Amino acid sequence: MQSPSVAVIVVAAGSGTRLGHERPKAMVDVAGVPVLVRALRGVRGSAEPAQVIVVAGADWLDQAVALSGDAAVVAGGRTRQASVAAGLAAVDPGVEVVLVHDAARALTPASLFDAVIARVRATGGGVVPGVPVADTIKRVESGDVTGTVDRSELSAVQTPQGFPREALVAAYASAAEDHTDDAALFAAAGHPVTVVDGDPLAFKITTPWDLRRAEALLAARGAGGVQRIGIGVDVHAYDADSPLWLGAVHWPDEIGLAGHSDGDAISHAICDALLSASGLGDMGSRFGTSDPRYAGASGELFLRETIEILSGEGWSVGNVAVQVIGQRPRIGPRRAEIEARLSGILGAPVSVSATTSDGLGFTGRAEGVAAIATALLTR
Ligand code: CTP
Ligand code: MG
Repeated sequence: MQSPSVAVIVVAAGSGTRLGHERPKAMVDVAGVPVLVRALRGVRGSAEPAQVIVVAGADWLDQAVALSGDAAVVAGGRTRQASVAAGLAAVDPGVEVVLVHDAARALTPASLFDAVIARVRATGGGVVPGVPVADTIKRVESGDVTGTVDRSELSAVQTPQGFPREALVAAYASAAEDHTDDAALFAAAGHPVTVVDGDPLAFKITTPWDLRRAEALLAARGAGGVQRIGIGVDVHAYDADSPLWLGAVHWPDEIGLAGHSDGDAISHAICDALLSASGLGDMGSRFGTSDPRYAGASGELFLRETIEILSGEGWSVGNVAVQVIGQRPRIGPRRAEIEARLSGILGAPVSVSATTSDGLGFTGRAEGVAAIATALLTR
């Protein structure tokens, strides 16, 4: 595959002071899904294959990796500008167009990324999405109105902002002061910037009120769509000669599971539940268990391919629940980690539970592991 010519830097290293949550804003849930995960959905929905770089707070890198799928994750800086610079340093050699996007604009539609990329290519300059300012804007000095600003000259700008890579890197290298956004820094270096139509959904979640607005918008969207549930079951026998992969995480000191693939019963049960809900078949019919392409394939690969099949048909995942039945491994100590990992891959909340079968049956005799999953899809 040709390496992407576009990179998207998603800045998520802010603390979210105005939101006032104990976690950084990017890690806060919007209707059950972290801000960062929602933002990445918009990025990945773009028609353009892109290198994705997530810039996260230095203390939150593990969480960011768990939520970011195959995106690169780098540590941010004290200011937004420093965070963007850290992201820029990780851009792949072949990239020609760089987009910078606030994770906090969690509901930004994929189409806005496409529009910005197209305009950067057409103009060779910087591009910002902007929306008209609806309110009348006054100039105020110590409580006194000193003037009215001509609204027709104003645009409220959003992200993603797009730039030709080389010029942006040079502008960052020569930036002498802190600018309020990337377009201002780019313009200060003498480059032209144009505006494309922004999108109201690209608003920035800044305050608790914004968070409620985002949740209300998502609720309204869900209410208008179709919802379907599905179920999936998977069973694998223990195999002392295999490494254990379960829930898309590695268990170094545990007996593995047998299978044509890596035997990850949790991931497979989830794939079947997702396919079952969509009515698009099951793992056997979709992936062919004898297909050499899937020999030793990871649970994560099946999950990602399943999500691709579903998105192609317009489905998105509401949530997934999975229960493991077996004597070992003990899920409890790693439950949160597995949930974060699977939620990151699926872009939706995943809850994991576990039980034994009171000594009964193949799970009770410690011959293998079973997993049962349910999934809710919306379209
Ligand atoms: N950001 C960043 N690094 C910083 C500061 C901000 O990556 N040092 C990111 C934020 O994570 C956010 C985007 O820049 O996605 C826009 O910033 P803002 O909305 O101001 O977020 P915060 O700085 O986190 O919020 P606050 O200003 O309320 O603390
Ligand atoms: Mg800030």
